[in-house]
Amino acid sequence: MTSSQAWKVPVRHVVTLCIGIILWSGSVDADGASWNYNISGYGSPAYWYMNYSNCGGVMQSPIDINTTIVLYDPWLPVFNITEYSKTDNVTMTLTNKGGHTAEVEFSGTPIYLREGGLPDVYKLVQFHFHWGAQDQRGSEHSIDGYHAPMELHLVHQQAHLENDAKFKEHPFAIAVFGFMFKISTEDNPNFEKLLQYFPKISTAGKTMNGTEIETFKVRDLLPSDEKLYFYRYSGSLTTPECYETVIWSLATQYITISERQINVFRSLYNENHDPLVDDFRPIQALNQRSILTNDIKFMVTAASFNSGQQWTFHKMTHFISFILVFYLFMLY
Ligand SMILES: *[C@@H]1O[C@H](CO)[C@@H](O)[C@H](O)[C@H]1NC(C)=O
Ligand SMILES: *[C@@H]1O[C@H](CO)[C@@H](O)[C@H](O)[C@H]1NC(C)=O
Ligand SMILES: *[C@@H]1O[C@H](CO)[C@@H](O)[C@H](O)[C@H]1NC(C)=O
Ligand SMILES: *[C@@H]1O[C@H](CO)[C@@H](O)[C@H](O)[C@H]1NC(C)=O
Ligand SMILES: *[C@@H]1O[C@H](CO)[C@@H](O)[C@H](O)[C@H]1NC(C)=O
Ligand SMILES: *[C@@H]1O[C@H](CO)[C@@H](O)[C@H](O)[C@H]1NC(C)=O
Repeated sequence: MTSSQAWKVPVRHVVTLCIGIILWSGSVDADGASWNYNISGYGSPAYWYMNYSNCGGVMQSPIDINTTIVLYDPWLPVFNITEYSKTDNVTMTLTNKGGHTAEVEFSGTPIYLREGGLPDVYKLVQFHFHWGAQDQRGSEHSIDGYHAPMELHLVHQQAHLENDAKFKEHPFAIAVFGFMFKISTEDNPNFEKLLQYFPKISTAGKTMNGTEIETFKVRDLLPSDEKLYFYRYSGSLTTPECYETVIWSLATQYITISERQINVFRSLYNENHDPLVDDFRPIQALNQRSILTNDIKFMVTAASFNSGQQWTFHKMTHFISFILVFYLFMLY
């Protein structure tokens, strides 16, 4: 053990004691082992950990957001998403990614996500969706036990790690901004900018490149509210390698689309040429993690204090340990 490793050991113990987070430094599996969402087989989420050890960790995603234990954090700022409206020299590539999802990848002029309490500026790498065969399921996260029919993930990479091939293994390497959907009787016209291309990517592996796709504003896919509030917790990628290096932000406002439009997602095919549906990972244990929010509807008012809400010792200790762990991670 070198002297520089020696001082890390006590820090690691403190972190572990504080909140039960274990830093994982296992070997990286080469991507290539098969995984899928088919519950009848060894590729299913329940077995991912066998080929991808991170998937068996203690801070995995998705989770259920239990709103009774969510902590309002008045110092957690919203994101600056000004650059989500950028289109100049931005190139979008749409892919039926391995029959697992529909994914749009970005190249050209970078789009940066700022603020939101993140330790750095984060570059938008791709966005993709998870959806169900029926409206009762499809989202990865759930709110008080209820799933939405679909969930959008905007995946960002920490700007300082842009040239690091193994960036996903660094603490706080990834920031995902997630959005739940709800079904409306009206079409969401902005989604046609994306859905018009789906017939061309119906089979697994099909791609439409940047010259075939007209770049549109990512902002147009999101709720039009000026400020987008969110739930914040520390978690993982929801697909192998399941790296536990993701700062999660799940929006509290929903995106609306119509039944006709979600059926366009359901018209894609997976690698077996079965319908590409139900591509979500089951809920993972929260363990000792805290969930924060900046949504003012969770603000604890004087009235709720007086009416005997238990926002006392229990929640306060969770909150302080979250802050403490955050700074210890920065030190580490
Ligand atoms: C692990 O990967 C191997 C090689 O691709 C595959 O044959 C096996 O089924 C996988 N096991 C699990 C549990 O996914
Ligand atoms: C799941 O796997 C089984 C057996 O390998 C296969 O028959 C079935 O078509 C698969 N289902 C889906 C939805 O891919
Ligand atoms: C958001 O970031 C942009 C730079 O991308 C900056 O010009 C703008 O002033 C910021 N807006 C706010 C409200 O801070
Ligand atoms: C877009 O790229 C072209 C050629 O690479 C360059 O001349 C132009 O200034 C760029 N525009 C913006 C807005 O970055
Ligand atoms: C949310 O947490 C409360 C308090 O711990 C618990 O009583 C309730 O069952 C939980 N709800 C869900 C959906 O897990
Ligand atoms: C994009 O796809 C079109 C049609 O398949 C092809 O002609 C073109 O060369 C591709 N462009 C790039 C940059 O790959």
